[in-house]
Formats: sequence, C-alpha cells, structure tokens
Amino acid sequence: MLVLGIESSCDETALALVADGRPVASVLASQADIHALFGGVVPELASREHYRYMGPLFDELMRRAGIAPHALDLICAARGPGLLGSLLVGVAFAKGLALGTGAPFLGIDHLHAHLLAAGLDGELPFPCLGLLVSGGHTHIYRMEAPWHFLTLGRTLDDAAGEAFDKAAKLAGLPYPGGALLDKLAQDGDPAAIALPRPYLDNASLDFSFSGLKTAAALWLEKDCPVTWPRPLPSPAAAPQELRNFCAAFNEAVVDTLCAKVARALRQNPDIRTLVVAGGVAANSLLRRRADKLMRERGGHCRVPPPGLCTDNAVMTAYAGWLLGKAGYRHDLDMETIPRGKRIPDDMRLRNAPQPFLPPGPTP
Ligand code: KG4
Ligand code: ZN
Repeated sequence: MLVLGIESSCDETALALVADGRPVASVLASQADIHALFGGVVPELASREHYRYMGPLFDELMRRAGIAPHALDLICAARGPGLLGSLLVGVAFAKGLALGTGAPFLGIDHLHAHLLAAGLDGELPFPCLGLLVSGGHTHIYRMEAPWHFLTLGRTLDDAAGEAFDKAAKLAGLPYPGGALLDKLAQDGDPAAIALPRPYLDNASLDFSFSGLKTAAALWLEKDCPVTWPRPLPSPAAAPQELRNFCAAFNEAVVDTLCAKVARALRQNPDIRTLVVAGGVAANSLLRRRADKLMRERGGHCRVPPPGLCTDNAVMTAYAGWLLGKAGYRHDLDMETIPRGKRIPDDMRLRNAPQPFLPPGPTP
C-alpha cells in the first residue's frame, strides 16, 4: 500500500511516501527563516508559503520516487490541530489529488501522528501511554490502537515547549530557546535555585506551567546575584548562575512531566510502553527520566527516530498507512480543525478488517 502524507500544520511544508509501513521518499521546505524575522510564526505568511511550495514539492516527490500520482493507494493530510489557513492548503491539495486520481482520502490528527511515528522503528505494542510535548501542546493519552486515543490530560495554559522558550527568552537566550536551555543545564546545579513543581497537588493528569514561568521570572528579576548581556552573545558567555537557572528550570519541567506520567501509569497498570514525542522529546533529561521510569516498571520508553521528532510528513504518511490498512477513510467533506478545537471522531470504515475497539478505561 503506497501512502502519500502531507504536512502543513505550522511552518513546514512537507510531503512523504510510505510503502507498506516504510518511508520511501520525503521532501520538506521550512519557513523558519521567514518567521524568524518576526520573532514567531505569522499565520498569513505561513499559508502563503505553503501555497507557493505545495505544487513544486509534490512534483519533486514524484520525481524522486519515480512514480506517477495514479500509483498512490491512499492520500493523507494533517487535518489539525494547527494554523487553520496553513492546514487548509495541505487538506485542499490532498482532496483535489484524491478527486483527480480516484484514490481514497484520509485526514490525520497531527498530534497522534507525532506519537505513532515511534512505531517506524518497530511496531508499537498497544495499549501504550503517549506523552506529546511540543511548542504548542502537552497531552497525555492512553493509546488503545492507532485509531483510538483517549486524552487523559492536557495543559491548561502554556505547553511544555512554550514554557522552555519563555524561560529561555527571559534569560536572554535566542528563540526558540528550549534546546539551548537544555544544553546549558548540563553544566548547572539544579539544587542552586528552588523552583516550584506546578499543579501536582491534585488528582488530575492536566498540566499548568504558567506559575513556574512566573517563579522563574521573579528569580531572574529579584534574586539572581549577577547580570549578563541579553541577548547572550554566545553559549560560552553564559555565567554559572545562568547555567544553574537552566538546570533548575529543566528539572522543574521534567519532574512535573514525569510525576504526571507516573500517576497515569498507576491508573493504567496494564500499560508497559510509554511513547514520548514532539520537540521537547529531544530534551536529554526527559529522555533519561522517562527511560528510568519505564525500566523500573519492567517496561520500555519509545521515542520517534531522530529527525522525525519535529514536524514532518513521514509521520503523517505512516499514521495514514496504519489507519488506511485497517480500512479507515474520510469523505471529501471532512473538516479541518484549528488549534484549541476537538478533532471529531468522524472516520468511516470501508471494507474494514477490524471494528472500532470498545472504549478503554476512563481516568
Ligand atoms: O514539536 P515542535 O518541533 O514544534 C512545535 O511545537 O511547533 O516543538 C518545538 C518545541 C520548542 O518549544 C523548542 O524549544 C522545544 O520543542 N525543544 C526543546 C528541546 N528541543 C526542542 N525543549 C527542551 N529541550 C530540548 N532539548
Ligand atoms: Zn507538530
């Protein structure tokens, strides 16, 4: 089964082909340089760039794979959550292609695709627990099957990546600063600064990071004994106090994420596999702690292959392949869903080998 995946939810225009679960070819155009001029993604510009690149990238993908559009068995596009105008470009292109070739169409939940990409290295053993941590989202899912995710918890305010980026910005690190904060943390003492582990004193699996950001801002403003040039001219110029701040912030976020994951595992004792995905899955401390957490329970932690943690279309095509081979399809009136709105459970089964699973346990 040859599946095309299209990703245009934010600032990467990407297309990829997956055949029988294996990546065949992929193309990607990043708009990062354009948006960097404005200090963040400008939605109107993002849609225009997707529109400009989509056609030529599709031609390039067909050329690289040496196939014609009529060879496609399934056409998939990320349907949300994301920037609505950007998503519409990819979804409209996919629907047009489905009409033109006669191939079936399937819209993909971008967040589910991030987590399912961990199966590219070897099939995931369902059920799994999914921790999706990116610049825009922080979710914990019970992953019953590729087509059946239960949301157990989500952030009530900032996403984990957003918290990293805001703390990094306050400390004078360039945007997006999560990765550099993680790097500087390696030489810092996390015990040097006391920061809160927010929103743990409850039974919920939701997150709230805004209080941690405020505590970090207060320390930098009032309690930090030294100053340094902001923006910081280079990582080598970081004083020990800044490294300590990075280590303390890193620990506070990772402790909080892992405490909720441990709570979710206690509530779902049948689960032996944790999947961590999204940009923050690159965090070295989070990876070590998540791994330890699962090993202590006799289980495993899985992350997507390197290079497929950030936005890409291989994950879209792979998720499409998992769902498509189980018989799932969308009609061409499928809606595109912006960030903050729930994605409806509106896939249709065609010649399905397996029925929908009964709902799993609720938190
Ligand atoms: O999933 P992603 O690539 O894209 C969006 O959410 O749009 O996630 C990007 C986020 C940013 O907030 C970035 O600072 C964060 O992931 N990030 C990290 C690390 N690498 C990337 N945060 C903490 N530690 C890292 N090593
Ligand atoms: Zn993403």
